[in-house]
Amino acid sequence: MAETQFSVPQGDFDLIRYPPTRDQNLRAWDAADELLLAHVADVMTEGPFRSVVTVNDGFGALSVAVRAAGKADPQNKVSFVSDSHVASIAIRQNLDRNGLAPLDADDVCDPDLVLIKIPKTLGLLEFQLSELRASLRPTTVVVAGGMTRDIHASTIDLFERIIGPSRTSHAKKKARLIFSELDPELSPVAPQPTVFSLGLQDVQLVNYPGIFSAKRLDNGTRLLLENLPLTSGSPDVIDLGCGNGALGVAIALANPNAHVTFVDESHLAARSAEETFNGAFSALDGAGAPRAKFRVGDCLDGLHGDSADLIVCNPPFHQGRVQIDDVAWKMFTGAKRVLRPGGELFVVGNRHLEYFDKLQRAFGNSQIMASNSGFVVVRAVA
Ligand SMILES: C[S@@+](CC[C@H](N)C(=O)[O-])C[C@H]1O[C@@H](n2cnc3c(N)ncnc32)[C@H](O)[C@@H]1O
Repeated sequence: MAETQFSVPQGDFDLIRYPPTRDQNLRAWDAADELLLAHVADVMTEGPFRSVVTVNDGFGALSVAVRAAGKADPQNKVSFVSDSHVASIAIRQNLDRNGLAPLDADDVCDPDLVLIKIPKTLGLLEFQLSELRASLRPTTVVVAGGMTRDIHASTIDLFERIIGPSRTSHAKKKARLIFSELDPELSPVAPQPTVFSLGLQDVQLVNYPGIFSAKRLDNGTRLLLENLPLTSGSPDVIDLGCGNGALGVAIALANPNAHVTFVDESHLAARSAEETFNGAFSALDGAGAPRAKFRVGDCLDGLHGDSADLIVCNPPFHQGRVQIDDVAWKMFTGAKRVLRPGGELFVVGNRHLEYFDKLQRAFGNSQIMASNSGFVVVRAVA
């Protein structure tokens, strides 16, 4: 059993991961969470901070602890900023598990304390700091934490450039903190999405920071694009884990009668796909444009059974830095439920991920449609 008892100065909590994983070595917190919460306890002078924002809290370690610390105060507010819908599910689950009230709505105005977990990409951190800056005042305590391997000179430069004077702590258990103070005189330029060509009909892919392969087309995506099935009639299509929307937009370009639903757990990915789609069909404004929906969700949760004819997917195989196949498996079993009888799932992945075998298990059939030295495209029929 993975360890679930999380003990910090704010109390002892029971924390589990979401999505659940079979890997028993994975806990719902890391040494950076412990270091951040120890620091919060040290700097607290007049009782718990009244208004706290946690940023990129993966499973709720930070939110649960600060919520518990302030629970006696009816004015206490804890809000949460993250690009990840799945993280918001994890946090809700762990608050509930520990008998704590849900977080306050996304009200990040005027916080006393901001606790930031350093995300995997510097681009996402830059985007988040730029958005957060407007809510800060010079007295707001801003502390970021991360594992030392994720904190570089460029990370500290970013805090200096966007927030103001910043310094780091000593490392402890391979984690480190960054302390930052707002400089009201700074006027940093907000980062913009990157744009590059899909290679079809002049379509430009829009990529907000932090989304998958934000600087160039991924080789796996390219192989699936070259091997997408031709559709006819008005099929219901899902681009599952859509990222910038390359796959779903390519299907809509080939068949403007297709109804495409783009799904991603990343808010910025869903926004990227929507902007890609709108750009691709901007000339068709209104009646002629294909129909599309953009959905932030966990795999296919919330979508009706027997409602799709085709699902295309380049599944994630990491959560943070950890390699996992639990999400891909949830996507495959979800696809089996959501596809109409005879509906098809097209998946691309690195050869070592063994999607052929996994689809055999989920669907009872699977077929290799294309492969190269790195990737394989597999089809399964519901
Ligand atoms: C390998 S990327 C593929 C992106 C895009 N389809 C492409 O080919 O460029 C996997 C995508 O799945 C999304 N994802 C991860 N977990 C998810 C989940 N539980 N539900 C929905 N999407 C998820 C990621 O945010 C990411 O955009």
